[in-house]
Amino acid sequence: MDAHAAALAAGEVAPAPAACNESAPSVIDHLEAALADSAPAISSDIQQAIGVLALAASWRQTASYVECPPSAEFLDNYAHATLLGPPDDVPMSDVSGQNGVAVGLVLLGPGVVYPPHQHPADEVYVPLQRIEWTHERHGMPAAVAPGDLIHHVPWQPHSMRVGARPALLLYIWSGDVVTPSRFCA
Ligand SMILES: [Fe+2]
Repeated sequence: MDAHAAALAAGEVAPAPAACNESAPSVIDHLEAALADSAPAISSDIQQAIGVLALAASWRQTASYVECPPSAEFLDNYAHATLLGPPDDVPMSDVSGQNGVAVGLVLLGPGVVYPPHQHPADEVYVPLQRIEWTHERHGMPAAVAPGDLIHHVPWQPHSMRVGARPALLLYIWSGDVVTPSRFCA
């Protein structure tokens, strides 16, 4: 950790949160609560590292979600941040190959339902809070404990339902990390 990141983690300098950006998704208002509410199952070192990255990240929303949101409240309660890998909206022709890796964060507001969606990337999630998941198009939601790994193979439909408190998740994509997620028809 460099000196700035260490100072940031210690609260000695002001972060450059996306919340300061007028175009930042409003769910960023829940970021600090989600960081403070990270489960004991996640080691404090990892929580601190994720906090540094989350506060400095550029938070975005998938373009197709913005164009056609699944509910009135969804866009106020969802954002993601790419920490490693191709940035959003990079034309596939600009990326050499489709065997990449991307690492990022997803932030979900209290009570939000993230409907069934899918993508060609293989995905591993590490949720920092308890979330209910489905892993098929019409599956029954089941709770997964914080820190437990969630794996989705390419194009596997999955959905999430958040409880009364916001949720922060770390994800790792591999394979085709350029084609964005899309809601199931
Ligand atoms: Fe996913």
